[in-house]
Amino acid sequence: MARITASVYTSHVPAIGAAIDGGKTGEPYWQPVFKGYEFSRKWMRDNRPDVIFLVYNDHATAFSLDMIPTFAIGTAATFNPADEGWGPRPVPQVIGHPELAAHIAQSVIQQDFDLTIVNRMDVDHGLTVPLSLMCGQPQAWPCPVIPFAVNVVQYPVPSGRRCLNLGKAIRRAIASYDDDLKVQIWGTGGMSHQLQGPRAGLINREFDNAFLDRMIADPEGQAAVPHIEYVREAGSEGIELVMWLIARGAMSDCSRGATGDLAGGLPPKVVHRFYHVPASNTAVGHLILEEAKS
Ligand code: DHB
Ligand code: FE
Repeated sequence: MARITASVYTSHVPAIGAAIDGGKTGEPYWQPVFKGYEFSRKWMRDNRPDVIFLVYNDHATAFSLDMIPTFAIGTAATFNPADEGWGPRPVPQVIGHPELAAHIAQSVIQQDFDLTIVNRMDVDHGLTVPLSLMCGQPQAWPCPVIPFAVNVVQYPVPSGRRCLNLGKAIRRAIASYDDDLKVQIWGTGGMSHQLQGPRAGLINREFDNAFLDRMIADPEGQAAVPHIEYVREAGSEGIELVMWLIARGAMSDCSRGATGDLAGGLPPKVVHRFYHVPASNTAVGHLILEEAKS
């Protein structure tokens, strides 16, 4: 059966993508950011998954105000890097996993989460920047990627509780797929940032670090935090952080008490934690949690 081996969490700042593509990672401004991901790139090489289930948000790129799915799963065979106004990023095409994606859609919808099924879309910096941070600049991404887009751009956005429970449902879906695949689940976006209005430039280190603590040790507690507190404390774009709860809910310790056939497990192992301010207008946060070996 397929199984989740680890979860990865990272910001997706578009300027990081531009720095990588423009060969600027060694510049004094960027050097400390990329230093925080050196361990991660080695860890990715040593712990190569068969599939990445990548939770991210589209920034009015594939979806406009014409159509706003709350949760959308990419079931296509390929996804092209989007043109966000400066031409597509010079990164590999994303290869999907239509069979596993279709299975997850079937299972998760039958667990009462309404997913939009997307058979064609381009993927923006929300998806490609995390891949670049974790994998560098390869000719091809190391494995197939299933894009899972969450609406955190146009209100109403999903609650933290719903995101955590969705992660639990995704775990059950992956555990019922009849192929021996190692799957990583990534939660991306955040950390604190606000890009417009009188509070533009807001960064809240205290909130961010408390969030990282609770992502590790108290995801159920973090799931109870209402969306308005993210906006108040972490800025209007800080709400991207609720997506991390989807990845966290898919770890085995969160399945405790959930309906279904999984008994619950040990807390995950923290193999990497990184926090840096600033990158563009944003605080950069990053965690790697490995599934506990029981
Ligand atoms: C920035 C951060 C984001 O998450 C984003 O989607 C766009 C811009 C920034 O910090 O500039
Ligand atoms: Fe963003």
